[in-house]
Amino acid sequence: ASGGGVEGGLEGRTVVITAGGTREPLDPVRFLGNRSSGKQGFALATVAARRGARVVLVAANTSLAAPEGVIVVPVQTALELETAVAAAAPGADVVVMAAAVADFRPAHYTDSKIKKTHDAADPDAAPTIELVRNPDVLAGLVARRGDDASPVIVGFAAETGDEDGSVLDHARAKLARKGCDLLVVNEVGTDKTFGLDDNTVHILRLGSSHVVDAGPAPKEEISAAVWDAVQQIL
Ligand code: CTP
Ligand code: CA
Repeated sequence: ASGGGVEGGLEGRTVVITAGGTREPLDPVRFLGNRSSGKQGFALATVAARRGARVVLVAANTSLAAPEGVIVVPVQTALELETAVAAAAPGADVVVMAAAVADFRPAHYTDSKIKKTHDAADPDAAPTIELVRNPDVLAGLVARRGDDASPVIVGFAAETGDEDGSVLDHARAKLARKGCDLLVVNEVGTDKTFGLDDNTVHILRLGSSHVVDAGPAPKEEISAAVWDAVQQIL
């Protein structure tokens, strides 16, 4: 199919996809954020819509055009993302957590801009930012999963190899910990940077030692491999 024509495979399915990266505000002008562009999540939405799915795209701080036929729900923080996913997930066939969700947020939000000199007694002091944990949205979805009518849950992870193990070692451990159906592992390293159009991933399935390798390829091609893996479970 060309130019947005329907390719099929996900007709009658509802899929929820999170994309981008959350921002956790400190004051009206500052936040803690991350480098996720949202390109992979938007590519997943584009391909799912082309395959006939009804797509809800929860987009955290992205500056990308809404894919044709996709419902976009903009969010900023991890808490807002959690609420948007909770609203969209009931009845969905698939939830794909491609967003980079902040693990922590500032414990306190300051209504007015934090000034450089914030302590009159010590004009050169620097503040310490206290953090608290954010909810793990993926873990919440897995925990609330029923026996039937529960969605296929897909997690994403960016991993590097280190002295404790290879990219795949870390990915297998994370999949077992998370308990989602599929884990799409992004290889990150010095030559693999954020915001690029090409991606290299490994797709792992819970309870299986079989791994699907995809890329280096454009994010739409990676997305096709992810949906192929999801469709095998549906
Ligand atoms: N995730 C989530 N909620 C969070 C953090 C992560 O739903 N608060 C989801 C991400 O969207 C992703 C998956 O969990 O699909 C894995 O994220 P990752 O950061 O790799 O996992 P963590 O358990 O946070 O592990 P790490 O210590 O490596 O950050
Ligand atoms: Ca994390």
